[in-house]
Order: sequence, then C-alpha cells, then structure tokens
Amino acid sequence: MKILGVSAYYHDAAACIIIDGEIIAAAQEERFTRKKHDSNFPFNAINYCLNEAKIKANSIDNVVFYDKPFLKFERLLETYLAFAPKGFKSFSTSLPIWLKDKLFQKRIIIDALKDLSGIDNKWEEKLLFSEHHLSHAASAYFPSPFNRAAILTIDGVGEWTTTSLALGKEHELSIYKEIHFPHSLGLLYSAITYYLGYKVNSGEYKVMGLAPYGEPKFAKLIKDHLIDIKNDGSFALNMNYFDYCTGLTMTNEKFNSLFGSPPRKQESKLTQRDMDIAASIQVVLEEILLKLAKDIAKTTGEKNLCLAGGVALNCVANGKILREKIFDSLWIQPAAGDAGGAIGAALGAYHIMHNQPRKFINGIDSMKGSYLGPEFNQKDVIQSLSSLGAVFETLTEDKIIEKTAQALTNGNAIGWMNGRMEFGPRALGGRSIIADPRSQSMQKLLNLKVKFRESFRPFAPSVLREYVSQWFEMDYDSPYMLLVADVIKDKRREMTLNEQVLFGIDKLNVSRSEIPAVTHVDYSARIQTVHKETNPRYYALINRFKELSGCPVIVNTSFNVRGEPIVCSPEDAFRCFMGTELDVLVIGNIFLKKTDQLLSLQKSYKNKYELD
Ligand SMILES: [Fe+2]
Repeated sequence: MKILGVSAYYHDAAACIIIDGEIIAAAQEERFTRKKHDSNFPFNAINYCLNEAKIKANSIDNVVFYDKPFLKFERLLETYLAFAPKGFKSFSTSLPIWLKDKLFQKRIIIDALKDLSGIDNKWEEKLLFSEHHLSHAASAYFPSPFNRAAILTIDGVGEWTTTSLALGKEHELSIYKEIHFPHSLGLLYSAITYYLGYKVNSGEYKVMGLAPYGEPKFAKLIKDHLIDIKNDGSFALNMNYFDYCTGLTMTNEKFNSLFGSPPRKQESKLTQRDMDIAASIQVVLEEILLKLAKDIAKTTGEKNLCLAGGVALNCVANGKILREKIFDSLWIQPAAGDAGGAIGAALGAYHIMHNQPRKFINGIDSMKGSYLGPEFNQKDVIQSLSSLGAVFETLTEDKIIEKTAQALTNGNAIGWMNGRMEFGPRALGGRSIIADPRSQSMQKLLNLKVKFRESFRPFAPSVLREYVSQWFEMDYDSPYMLLVADVIKDKRREMTLNEQVLFGIDKLNVSRSEIPAVTHVDYSARIQTVHKETNPRYYALINRFKELSGCPVIVNTSFNVRGEPIVCSPEDAFRCFMGTELDVLVIGNIFLKKTDQLLSLQKSYKNKYELD
C-alpha cells in the first residue's frame, strides 16, 4: 500500500511517501525551491518522493492532506463574527487568499495531482484529509519506538485545536482532550517573539536562545495578566492583550503598556530587558508543559511520552520534561512542525483508517535518523562540481574520514554533505557545517564569517552516543537535537566575577568549558547524540576526531547562510562553500579546499536571502 502525505498552504510545505507503513522518503519543499518556509504545493518534494520510492503517481493508493481546510475556514469565519467589526481588517485581508487558494483546496490538490500523474487516476476517491493535530499526534506516535504511549501535541493553531492530549496503543490512536483557539501556547510564544522583534513562525528559537541571558522577571506579569494556568496544565489567554484574532499583528497597545514600551524594532540592539522577557516566557512555557505532562501521565498511566507540534521544537523545555522523570521514556518527532504533518497524515491513514499493524525495528524508531531526503551519488557529484569549475580530489572512505578529522583538529570550518538530506528543521550530519568545539574563537568565527548572523546563540554539539554522559548531564538518546542538558561540572570552567557581569555576546565569548563553541552562557547545550546505526560515516568521523583530540564532540550547525534553506544538492553546497569563509567542503568521498579554488568563483550571496 502506497500512501503519499502532503502538508502545504500554511507553513512549511512537505511531502512523504510510505509503502506498507515504512517511511521511504520525506522532504520539505523549501529545500528544492530555495525559498525558506515555502508553503506552496510541494510539487518538487512529491516528485522527489516518487523517484526515491521508484513509483509513478498513478500507483499511489491514497494521498492524505495534513489538515482540513474547511474547518480552518470555519475558524476564521467564526473568529471574525465573534470580534466583528473589529476583526474586519484581518478578515478582509485573508478572505481573498482563502477564497482563491485555500477553500477550494480539494479542487486545487486534485488538479495538482493530475499534473503529476498525467491522467485523472480517480484522485477524488483517493484524496483524504486528516485533522491537523491528528497528523501531529500520528507523526509523534507511529514512528516512535513505543507500542503504547501518551501523546502531547502543541502548536500555534491548526483548525481549532492548539493543544491535544492523546493515547496511542498498538496501531490505534485517539485524542481525548483538546484546547482550542484562541487559547494557544504557540501563539503566546509567537506573540512574545513578535514583541521582541523577531519573525513569527521562525524567530521562536531565537527567543529560546536569548532566554539564558535573562532573569524571568516578567514571569509573574505574564501569569497575572496574559495567561491563566490551571493545575492540569490547561490554560486560557486574556485576549484583551492580543491582536491576532482581529488585527494583522500579534500584540496590541494594551500589551505594549503592560510591558512599558512598543515592540523592539527588528535588528535593533538587544537590551537586558529583552533578555529578561525571553527568560520569562520560557519559564512560563516550561511550567505549563510540565503540568500538562504530569496530567497526561496521571490520566493515562502511560510510561512513554511522544511529542509533536511546533512547541515540541523547544528543546530546553523538552530537556526539563526528561529530567523531571514524569515518564520513563520520551520521543519527539524531529519534524515536529507542520512539515512533519505530512508523515503523520500518511501514517495515520495507514494505521488508523486502513487498520494496519505497526512494525518495530529493534526498539529504534522508524524515522531512519530522519535521513529521508535526497542523496547524490559520486558520479553525479563529480559531474556537478566539474561543471561548476571546482577543484577537488576523490578519496577512499578511510582517507576522507582521516583527512576531514585532521582538518577539524587544524581549526578548519567544514561544509559536510553526507548521504541523504535530513527531514525537519535541524541539520544532523547530512547537511552540516562542522568544526572543533574546543576552539575559543570558533563560535565567533562561524557566526561572523560563515553564518552571517547574530552571535548570541551558541552552536550545537554532535556527540558520540556512548560518551554523552561523560560530557553532558544526560544519558539518553537525542538523535534529533531536541533535548538540552548542561555540560558536566568537570568540563566546565567557572566564570570569574568580572566575567559573570559581562553583557550579552561578551559573556558568550568567555571560555566557559572545555568545549566553549557549544556551551551556552548557562552551561547548557543543545545535544545531538550520534548513533553508529543511523549515520555510520558521521559516527566514524567524530570517532576519528576523538582519537586525534580526546574529544568525542564536534560543532554541528546547519549548512546554509542566514535566511537560506539548508543546502540540498552539490550545487547548493558548493555555492555556500564559495560564498562564505568555509575552509573545506566534503561531499561524500570528495574533498575540496578553499585555497585550491579559483578566486573568480568566490561569490557572496548572503544578501539574496531575507533575514530570518
Ligand atoms: Fe501545527
């Protein structure tokens, strides 16, 4: 049985193909169109999935869309009616888009499928619509290593639901409790993101990265005025302070007077107050998530918890849930945002609608390390690089690992393209920029010369799974970089009194541990554990680096410049290599040094992308 899952028209469009319940391929449209968060119908991603699965569109049994457009329209309409005439501005702006692109989505999707298949193929009968949070819940539970689990999904909003509590048993899944729009934890976090001068639906992780610099001085204010939190973790927002129902912004004048100023201007200087607000919303979010987790543990009696929805990308909060030991085990869908809805929609149809059992792969989840995207063979890479005028050498498997590990210890910043591309927002050693975390200057260098971004966020460490507890206060699988834990005390360097009072980025530039490039100002790190089973080459590279340096940890940041989708093809990788101050590029067994390349090929392209 071949099922295509599709997510589109809202945030990140994506496609996924499953065959007899096995996830064969999944990819986000942005990686092909090079348009960050591209929400258009994912023609490229679908074509890739069909090619990878070696099937024709005609042989697909079901296409499952990740949410229900009519329910979403109903929400817009009812929200408008509830807030009329105040909401007319936002309604009149969104209505034409809805009428044109969204309300008649079924027709549009069928037409798109006809374009793909060339013939009608009875798409009307084969097209199904899942519900938004059911897609999230299915994406969290079905690929997990558990045969039963409690499931928590939290995001901005789908149709009506913003939070759902569900239970998965064998191949059954049922949602038993929901919190509805406008009461939304995702939208509250987004409102603060907006107020702090960052883009909604993309800047949330910056707020999380800013939080360790601040004190939660505004947490009481937030709880007294913005959100009412019950003991079971359910919550209600005070809509007097938010404008997302009626206006085109997230917050309003009343919100501004509560915090004492208008929103921060994008790209303006950060203040201690901004950092304190970030710390405050993080603390409030964590309080609610812990209460929800405790409630779902109590009501279901389950030992395993699965998480999805955009809020599940808050790895700091996830780390807290793990440390509280509310559940024995925790699994988080790596594509926790709407892109992952494509996987959930397809798996939901297979297991729930078609009543098909689940398969377990030796206690490992069935996401294949999230390496579900395109791979390029050596012949294609050589052809691409040659046509671009690149100078390169092709090495054996052993030599490429040795030479790359040596380059790491020599302080080089390396573009590393290896095997299939990751599905989800994180680079996991498939399309990564890697470096030596022990270097005091690496944090600054990578930020300024390669990523072209603000440098208040540290990079993430990739660590061999066997060594994680020798370097971090955690002994748990975190293959998708979705758990945060502290560097262990032995590896820390306590800051002097003078260093402790430094402000912002100056504090980040103080050496706080043996691996300063991946240690945040509060000693925390966003950890990816690397497993031999899912990425043997990446494992071998870090292992060789450990033999040379004594350190089983490397810096891993996504292979892109600021505002650019992560690279997909060899061409994307070479452009990023030549447009930045990366020293080395490795694509499979092919090794390129910047100093070997023609100067005329060096082209800066960072201004091509809108800042994220
Ligand atoms: Fe969502």
